[in-house]
Order: sequence, then C-alpha cells, then structure tokens
Amino acid sequence: MQHFTKIADVSNLSALIERAFECKRSPHAWPSLGRGRTLGMVFFNPSLRTRVSTHRAATLLGMDVISMTVGDETWQLETRDGVEMDGPAAEHIREAAAVLGRYVDVLGVRSFAHLRDRQEDYAETILERFRACAGVPIVSLESATRHPLQSLADVLTIEQFKRRSRPRVVLTWAPHPKALPQAVPNSFAEWARAMDYELVIAHPPGYELDPQFTEGATISYDQDEALDGAEFVYAKNWSSYRDYGKILSQDRSWQITPEKMARTSDGYFLHCLPIRRNMIASDAVLDSPRSLVIEQAANRIPAAQAVLRTILETR
Ligand code: CP
Repeated sequence: MQHFTKIADVSNLSALIERAFECKRSPHAWPSLGRGRTLGMVFFNPSLRTRVSTHRAATLLGMDVISMTVGDETWQLETRDGVEMDGPAAEHIREAAAVLGRYVDVLGVRSFAHLRDRQEDYAETILERFRACAGVPIVSLESATRHPLQSLADVLTIEQFKRRSRPRVVLTWAPHPKALPQAVPNSFAEWARAMDYELVIAHPPGYELDPQFTEGATISYDQDEALDGAEFVYAKNWSSYRDYGKILSQDRSWQITPEKMARTSDGYFLHCLPIRRNMIASDAVLDSPRSLVIEQAANRIPAAQAVLRTILETR
C-alpha cells in the first residue's frame, strides 16, 4: 500500500482486516518493524482519538513520532496556488509538504472540509498537495470527504460483534447544533458497501450524501422504519451535500433514544466520537451495554497499526 487516503488505496481489504485483528490480539508482536523510521502527523484541525491512537500504533511498531498543529506549532500555510502571499500565511503548502517529506518516512494529514465551496472541498486540495509534494506515503487522519482510519475501526467493531455474516447496518443522521462535514458518513458508507453489509442510510430530505459513496445502499426518510430489525445503529450528524454545508433540520425527534433502540434487533449503538450527549443520542443509550462507542474508539489503535504495518512492509 502506497498511501492510505481512501478504500481504493487498499488492495486487499480482507487481508487488512485480518492484519488489524492480529494487531488487536498481539499489539506488541512487531516492536522493531518501524525502528529508525518516523511518522509525522500534521493537524489542521483538533483531534483526540486520531492523534493519540495513531501515535500509539506507531510507537507499538517502534517508530518515532512528530506531530504538529498547523498555524499554532508551525507557520500558517497558504494552500492556494498563484496568489501573492501578503496575508497571514508565511509559508506555502508546497514547500511545507516537500520539507516534511525529507524529515519523516510516513506523513499523516488531518484537514477538514471548510463547508464553503463543495467543489473545493471535494477536490481534497490539501491532502492532494501533500500526496503530490511530500514524496512519502500519506495517511489520511480525516480529510474533507473521508475518514478511512475511522471506517476501518468501525468495520473491525462490526466484525467483532456481528451475529451473522451480512448484518443490517443503519447509518442515521441525528441532530447537532453546528454544521459538520460529510467525511465520516461518506467514508462509512464506502466501507460498509465494500463489506457487503445490508446498509440503510436514514436522514431527513435534503441530507442525501454524494451518490458516489451511497450507490447500492437503501435510503430512507423514515428513521423508525429504518431502525426496525437493525443490528447496528451508527448515528452521525452531517450537513447538507446538496445545499452545501447548510443545516436544513435540527429535528430532535431524530435523536437516538432507548425507544428508538427498542425497534432494533437487539442492536448495537455506534458513533465515531466526539458525541454531544442528548443531541445525537441520549445518556441512556450511551451508557447502556448495547453502546460500543468505547470499543469502537479502542479499535482505532489496531486499525492504525495495521495500516502502518502494511505501509512499512511495502517500502
Ligand atoms: N473519531 C475521531 O476521529 O476523533 P477525533 O476527532 O478526536 O480524532
């Protein structure tokens, strides 16, 4: 594997999942694989899970880790081409990416959608600039349109707890006070389809995701109907793709409650975290034994370890 920015970068998905379960069972089995090599992590946005789990995964493999927050611990970066740099950015992403590529062996990048211009966000300008200029493998730590390390951990969690080979998995929109990117639901839909899960995506009208991610999934505007018989309920808020970046609904009746979970087939609750309690899901759901959110977050370590192992063994 050259880069890890989307599922298309993975040549053998079942082998990657098997490798992640090996890492989960025996996290200390490859202490020297990354010795003498360094993971750099560049954050344009905040992070708890991605930052710590990827750092931990790298150190389990013997790698050194350098992480930085852009504009706080580095110069502010200009990402547009051809501009007169007379603004606050002191360095262009072209030089920054090329220089970091000389300092580290693998580079992780987190850069969220700005939700102003759909074409610009879906062009993945920052991630693509790192891919083009760094000259080392790039690992997405969540980009404008995808969060593949999260999706791999989501799939590991479903594989760990599923009761039959093709579970019914419901990805449901839930209310949130702020406009959020579509990266997590896009990516989850992409991975769930690759896993051939029975995928249902429930949301109010106007929240349709980019069809390139959802083709083949059942789309429902009726959350109750979608939840009937669900074995996994993945709640997530996202802003509109069609009316790009807009909040079209804050309908609290889409919050996941014990009554909603009672419609499922003894279903498990998933969320990528961070989660706003009593907005997306009620306390009673998050604190119930059917909530897998902590195990899901724990699976971020074997997910990242499997990806880094694959990249290190490829080079
Ligand atoms: N789920 C996730 O990516 O969490 P962080 O934003 O805290 O990294």
